[in-house]
Amino acid sequence: MSAYKEIKKITTHILSQLKARGEKISMITAYDYSFARLFDAAGIDVILVGDSASNVMAGHETTVPITLDQMIYHAQSVVRGVNRSLVVVDMPFGTYQSDSKVALASAIRIMKETGGHSIKLEGGSEVVESIQRIVSAGIPVMGHLGLTPQSIYKFGTYTVRAKEEAEAEKLRRDAQLLQQAGCFAIVLEKIPAALASEVSKGLTIPTIGIGAGGDCDGQVLVMHDMLGINNEFKPRFLRQYLNLQELITSAVKQYISDVKSGDFPSAGESY
Ligand code: KIV
Repeated sequence: MSAYKEIKKITTHILSQLKARGEKISMITAYDYSFARLFDAAGIDVILVGDSASNVMAGHETTVPITLDQMIYHAQSVVRGVNRSLVVVDMPFGTYQSDSKVALASAIRIMKETGGHSIKLEGGSEVVESIQRIVSAGIPVMGHLGLTPQSIYKFGTYTVRAKEEAEAEKLRRDAQLLQQAGCFAIVLEKIPAALASEVSKGLTIPTIGIGAGGDCDGQVLVMHDMLGINNEFKPRFLRQYLNLQELITSAVKQYISDVKSGDFPSAGESY
């Protein structure tokens, strides 16, 4: 049983202690108050307000279109539902890549306007200056390497990254750079398990994997995928814990039928 069950608030410092003790870190995405409240009460360590909101909340094909204002709205809603978990907010595409001053200004808006505890951004050496500037301002930064969905138009596909040695070597170097720049953790997305294991062992900061095998220091899943809200997306790395699509569809069908038949509302459900 975890010694950290009774911790009142999860901090970045506690995450590094969890890694040092060999205790795994649990992370899930959330985008609104109601789900964040449930996940926090269930005991999740980290809630990521992911820019996957662009896909699962707004219905866009990619994470590219979501704006800083929209991310701030989602993060504000999540933070209202959270007592214990660490809240990480994704910096959306276009808010940190141009220069490090723009990056810092975007990160400051997220921290001041949402009450979130940290930010996440994608990339390695290309964004290291931005990471340093944000960390210097006192804002905790989570890195994100491997499959970085904001660069989908560069990659052209969502398949496994860093299978070739040159890309694997860049990822190893980037992970060290991100740690030196002051990141408190790094998401490793869709890379070979052996590479993720090697990178995780070579870092003192925790790695959080998604499609990166069991040796990462923690795991993250998108809530809509793991709860089965969208049954069409079934990558190999996904473990689906619920089939909400089926449950919700049958509940709503029953409601429609009860309304049409006049069964709902009954006398007991009326004033
Ligand atoms: O936006 C997101 O949901 C993410 C996770 C896939 C790590 O970045």
